[in-house]
Amino acid sequence: MSARKPVRVAVTGAAGNIGYSILFRIANGDLLGKDQPVILHLVDIPDFVGKCEGVVMELQDCAFPLLAGTVVSADPDVSFGDIDVAMLIGAKPRGPGMERADLLKDNGRIFTATGDTIDRVASPDVRVLVVGNPCNTNCLIAASRAKRTSAANYTAMTRLDQNRAAAQLALKSGRGIEEVAGLAIWGNHSPTMYPDFYNATIGGAPVTSVIEDTAWLQGEFLTTVQQRGAAIIKARGLSSAASAASAAIDHVFDWSQGTGDRIVSMAIPSDGSYGIPEGLIFSFPVRVTSPWTYEIVQGLDLTEFSRAGIQKTTDELLSEREAVRDMLA
Ligand code: LMR
Repeated sequence: MSARKPVRVAVTGAAGNIGYSILFRIANGDLLGKDQPVILHLVDIPDFVGKCEGVVMELQDCAFPLLAGTVVSADPDVSFGDIDVAMLIGAKPRGPGMERADLLKDNGRIFTATGDTIDRVASPDVRVLVVGNPCNTNCLIAASRAKRTSAANYTAMTRLDQNRAAAQLALKSGRGIEEVAGLAIWGNHSPTMYPDFYNATIGGAPVTSVIEDTAWLQGEFLTTVQQRGAAIIKARGLSSAASAASAAIDHVFDWSQGTGDRIVSMAIPSDGSYGIPEGLIFSFPVRVTSPWTYEIVQGLDLTEFSRAGIQKTTDELLSEREAVRDMLA
């Protein structure tokens, strides 16, 4: 085993589908590097503690050299005790006839409690990624509880949208996915998100010169990315799981290791850049300049089309914030 001190990583919704995919990858060293031992905290509702214990048996049976321990408890103070990284995946899914506002309220209550617990018992330097939907506003609620921990360390996931968008551009152009760069998602992880293809490149050339079909870029491309979550639910009868787990790994891996010049998408508390209201959990193009330190990429030119897309997703996030105002500390 590596001599490094283990990092404690909590995963909520640990007995769920995303949990079942992500835990094994974390234990394999995909999240924090191949020389970093981890202690996994499997967190779920009390009824699922037994299931989590079953997952622990499987984790042990994989004999991962980097897995230095596991924690399963019905007591949130133990589940979140001293954690360094929180991956908040568990959330209530939208049921039949439920309005988005109802979902915001129901999940808001979960994230109020989780935010309070994390702030009380986690490491003061804890880094948080919210995946459970509506992830931006759930993150806003949890971050608002941050007193001992830093609100700047609360983030939400739009990396899945970035990965989806990059894949669509690679498929359309017939080029390799690794050739797509600079592609950032702006705003909310919802159908209003805006993937800014104007500032992206394929093989170093602007996307718009490689794919000259503007109608496709402004139409089918955007809607495919924006509606991908719903398309997967329709086709599979279940939400995306392995791809969501993979994107969550990408988000935290890049945040912990740095990105160099590479641009990635992270939903983070807005500092007012590009006129986005301060404090909204908003997806920006960022670079991670040193471990756990992100910076918004400044000075990007935004076309009129992009500005309209960004305004729409900003308006949606503002209305979500209004809907949960009474839960913000
Ligand atoms: C996804 O993007 O696949 C998930 O957030 C599921 C959803 O509701 O869209």
